[in-house]
Amino acid sequence: MIFEQVATGGCQSYLVGCPDTRGAVLIDPEVRQIDRYLGLASKEGLRIRYIVDSHTHADHFSAARDMGRRLDVPVVTHRLSAAPYADLRLEDGEMLICGGIKLKAMHTPGHTRDSMCLVTADRVFTGDTLLIGGTGRTDLPTGDPDELYDSLFGNLLKLDPKLMVFPAHDYKGRSHSTIGDELADNPRLQKRDRAEFVDMMRHLDLSAPTHLTEALRTNMNGGKTVTQLLAEAAAMVAFVSLEELAAKVERGSDPGMVILDVREKDAYLAGHIPGARHLPRGQLELRVNDEFKDPTVRILTCCEFGRISTLAAATLRTLGFPRAAALDGGIKMWREQGLPLVAESAS
Ligand SMILES: [Fe+2]
Repeated sequence: MIFEQVATGGCQSYLVGCPDTRGAVLIDPEVRQIDRYLGLASKEGLRIRYIVDSHTHADHFSAARDMGRRLDVPVVTHRLSAAPYADLRLEDGEMLICGGIKLKAMHTPGHTRDSMCLVTADRVFTGDTLLIGGTGRTDLPTGDPDELYDSLFGNLLKLDPKLMVFPAHDYKGRSHSTIGDELADNPRLQKRDRAEFVDMMRHLDLSAPTHLTEALRTNMNGGKTVTQLLAEAAAMVAFVSLEELAAKVERGSDPGMVILDVREKDAYLAGHIPGARHLPRGQLELRVNDEFKDPTVRILTCCEFGRISTLAAATLRTLGFPRAAALDGGIKMWREQGLPLVAESAS
């Protein structure tokens, strides 16, 4: 088996490949690591055939939908997953077969209703059902400590103690353990009485994950994260540095482009780059025909932090202004560097 473990900020993803057919399964991919998974697969001479989410993640952003579409391969989840983009929904006991690799789904609700573990000959991918020295929490949407008790003690922990455990998270840089080790040492598994276990899980008092609502919105409905939206816009525009623009402004000659300030009117009046025109982002699409008659014009968008201006430049390009570019940085940085600003009084 070709096996790659990708750890990022506590998240663990796995690329499991068949050495004969070169087909591979990608388990629990995270959205920031897409290029890395694709690079790893190429390096190993693998073609990804399935993308699996072990459950609906509430704490990080799944790359499953994005990669499934990009590679034109099925996104695999448990049957109970709420994700509308899941193509192949497994029932308990069903297998994915990819060349010589067989992954058997074991439905293990508790952390979430749609949690499943994937069992192979020598290892089990436990998602957030069983972690090294811990378990997934049960206080997030669809979690249930009673179900987790059954999934662990009635199912997962009855597997061969020698099976290696590869979880979806580890925050201490550990790669894996075994079922036997977890039974012996995992503090949460020492409460073998149902009532005691459930009581412990109900009183963990954990704080909510940082990106809970955004993770559920994107993972359950297939939406994009704000970071993704910005990255996609940035990938289609060119940028001009503050230094480059400052030099043009200082020369005082025609900069050869329209500097377009897309902030709100108050901010623009309080201080804008000399020569900048004003068109707030919120009115961009509706006023663009009146403001820019010439689609060959060079437009440089700017805003306070450099993010909205990136979106605005991408929108302008989509609207047919191929020379729209964005300022790398924003007026805040411009101001902090003591570069010239012009204030106007409201008329
Ligand atoms: Fe999770």
